[in-house]
Parts: sequence; C-alpha cells; structure tokens
Amino acid sequence: MSDPMNTANISIELRNICQEYPAPNGQAPLRVLDDINLTLDKPSITMLLGPSGCGKSTLLRMMGSVRPLGVPTPTRGEVLINGVPCDGPHDDVVMVFQRYANRPDLTVWDNVAFPFTLKLWRDRFKRTEWQAMVEQALLDVGLSDKKNMRPAQLSGGQNQRVALARALVLRPRILLMDEPFGALDAQTRTETQLLLTELHRTHPCAVVFVTHDVSEALLLGDRVVVLSSQPAKIADDFEISEPRPRSATWRRSSEAVRLEERILDHLHAAGQGQVRITV
Ligand SMILES: Nc1ncnc2c1ncn2[C@@H]1O[C@H](COP(=O)(O)OP(=O)(O)O)[C@@H](O)[C@H]1O
Ligand SMILES: [Mg+2]
Repeated sequence: MSDPMNTANISIELRNICQEYPAPNGQAPLRVLDDINLTLDKPSITMLLGPSGCGKSTLLRMMGSVRPLGVPTPTRGEVLINGVPCDGPHDDVVMVFQRYANRPDLTVWDNVAFPFTLKLWRDRFKRTEWQAMVEQALLDVGLSDKKNMRPAQLSGGQNQRVALARALVLRPRILLMDEPFGALDAQTRTETQLLLTELHRTHPCAVVFVTHDVSEALLLGDRVVVLSSQPAKIADDFEISEPRPRSATWRRSSEAVRLEERILDHLHAAGQGQVRITV
C-alpha cells in the first residue's frame, strides 16, 4: 500500500472520456458521458453534481474501475492514476456507496476487517498490524463500543460509519463516495458530514463525492464540478476557499448564496426536477 501520508503526488485524470450503453432492440446506443476531461491532483474534497440520470455514478464507478457486466468501459478515453493508465482495481482507490454494502452476517469488527480476508491486503501486513488498523478505524468513526454488534442492530448512520471505517482502514489516497449520506435523516446526515470533515482533516486524501444536495456540496466541497444533462459534459467547475467546518453564518453569506444560485442555474438549465436544498 502507498504511504498514507504521501498525498502530495496523488492524481486521477479523466481524458476525453465518452461512455455509451447498448440500447435494447437494436436502437442507437445511449451516450451518457461526452468528452469529459477532469484532473484531481490534491488531497481535497471534490463534489460532483448533475441532473438525475446524467451519468454521475457511471463516472465515479469508472474512476474506481467498477465495471458494468458486458459493457466496455470507457467507450473512449482514458483514466490515469498518478499518470499511469488504469484498467483495473487500484490500490490507492476505494469506494463507498449509499447502501453501505455491509455484510449482515458479520460483526462490525469483521465488516471493517473484511479487506484483510482478501489475499491482496492480507499478505501486506502482519496480523497484529492489520488488527491494530481495524481498531484505529473503529476509533476514528466512533464505533469501538459497537464492534461486536451486527449491522441489523445499528442505525443507518452507524452502518454508514462502518462502511467509512472499512474504506479508511486501507488508508486510500483516493476515496470515491456515491451519494453516501443520501439515505440518512437530516440530523444524522449533518453529523456524518462533520465526521467526514474531521476524518479528512486527520487523513487527507482526494475525495470525489457525488451528491444531489446543493447544500451538501457547499458545506463539504473544496471544488464543485457540475455535469450537464445526458449526454453529460462538464457544465461548471469552481473552487470554494472557505475553510471547513463551514458555519451557518457562512452558509447564509452572499458568497454562499451566489454559489448556490450558480449551481441551481446549471441544474435548472438541464431540466432538473428533483433538486434538494437543505439548510
Ligand atoms: N449498466 C448499464 N446499462 C445500461 N444503461 C445504464 C447502465 N448503467 C447506467 N445506465 C444508464 O446511464 C444513465 C446514467 O446513469 P447513472 O450513471 O446511474 O446516472 P446518475 O448517477 O447521474 O443518476 C441512465 O440513463 C442509466 O439508465
Ligand atoms: Mg447515481
């Protein structure tokens, strides 16, 4: 595994990415992504927004080499990690999904330790080493006292923290998150957003975070990338310099309101009907 503190030379680059999916009944293929060029080369949080169905998950899965069965991915273009074309799972990249993907039959501890049941990771560490990494990840997400419980005994927020711990236990330099807090109630979402802010401060890595929540993008993002409707191109790409955690006062500031309107204009231009704004 890479040196976790060495985040200086991390980069993920999408070059001229196009993605098409085959259509049923011999119709023309569905073009979802159209010539996307994007470079992430800092241990920062990039928020990815766009209309529902525009291809956000397609793009994120492509960055994580999670391939749909039987569909060549990408149709055209290249994904480069640290300057090297990447066509399979990469040690530096880990994904977190909305539905946690926790194993119901395993305890919290075993869910977090799951990567070390795979030869790839088990062979790299002594048993005592990876066990200490699991304990630390549980401590980081505040679940040490729940380690013997099973997912069904935990709340949604706690389940998402198990998924976060399982991702962070590998100390990834690139963390891909697909609407990770979308299933959480408002208060739990706020708590988990704060936890992510804190984890990112202590373990900096390049996060790409898909959301359809404009406020979440403004609260968490160092950078905001907005995709247009299908076939998706990059409609906007800007930075937010306000340090985290961002206060309610900043959220009401003219700068934040202007940025919110800027994102909403793109989503409305794309005919987005389901924009969520939380305050
Ligand atoms: N494996 C697949 N096969 C065919 N079409 C797909 C597949 N995955 C996604 N799509 C289509 O691609 C488009 C973009 O999907 P997705 O990337 O999930 O969008 P988003 O995450 O922005 O909502 C949608 O029209 C969806 O139906
Ligand atoms: Mg999606």
